[in-house]
Amino acid sequence: MARVAIVTGGTRGIGEAISVGLKNAGYKVAANYAGNDERAKGFAERTGIAVFRWDVCDYDQCQQGVAKVAAELGPVDVLVNNAGITRDATMRKMGRKGWDEVIDTNLGGVFNMAKAVWDGMLERGFGRVVNIGSINGQAGQYGQVNYAAAKSGIHGFTKALAQEGASKGVTVNAIAPGYIDTDMVSAVPPNVLEKIVARIPVGRLGKADEIARAVLFLVADEGGFITGSTLSINGGQHMY
Ligand code: CAA
Repeated sequence: MARVAIVTGGTRGIGEAISVGLKNAGYKVAANYAGNDERAKGFAERTGIAVFRWDVCDYDQCQQGVAKVAAELGPVDVLVNNAGITRDATMRKMGRKGWDEVIDTNLGGVFNMAKAVWDGMLERGFGRVVNIGSINGQAGQYGQVNYAAAKSGIHGFTKALAQEGASKGVTVNAIAPGYIDTDMVSAVPPNVLEKIVARIPVGRLGKADEIARAVLFLVADEGGFITGSTLSINGGQHMY
């Protein structure tokens, strides 16, 4: 039986590449999205992947969304917490709203979704959770106290939850992408982005597919001994 995977923010950017990669590898995929119906419809038509709309910030919507996916595709074996937003601004200019939106989506959403699938994974004795963190959660970034805090939180969350799932067949890992060629990164002012790319030893932005293949590696049935780890995929920009 094909395993069932949910990818949050799964119709765009890195999430789109993950959804498609999982589908091509034989998974039954549910791509979650927050609000852009038009784009999600196009994605579903293009890829044949089922799309489900809910807001990861909303605890109840996550519970209902996961129940709907389970009813239509089957119990959820794989969760990829990919949904994320930026509201970049220096500390002087950042308001409480820009802080809350990023923390609620990027970190609160990870809790809400993990909570919604967790009991089922433990009961069935199998689960794979992959959380998409960021180089900027590891190293910090000028203008991103909100995003860096949320992504850094994801890395701590991953290590804590991995300990709870370890003896039950449920692994929890993170990927920390560097600067990947997506809409999110192209929103960085060109003069700033140019300086960032100049600091990437590989000499270019990453590709979404280069993150997707790492997800496939981590969620494989054979991946049961990999848990609590963070895979950094950043072209050598940050090593430690
Ligand atoms: N280090 C030091 N100084 C910096 C700096 C940096 N990295 N970036 C900007 N500055 C300085 C500028 O040189 C400027 O200095 P002066 O006033 O002395 O000239 C000052 O900060 C203000 O810069 P801006 O004019 O750019 O100010 P702004 O308010 O218009 O914008 C900003 C500030 C929003 C932070 C903007 O610089 C920006 O968007 N930076 C990109 C942040 C970034 O990398 N975001 C990542 C998005 S992609 C992502 O998050 C995915 C992922 O996981 C990797």
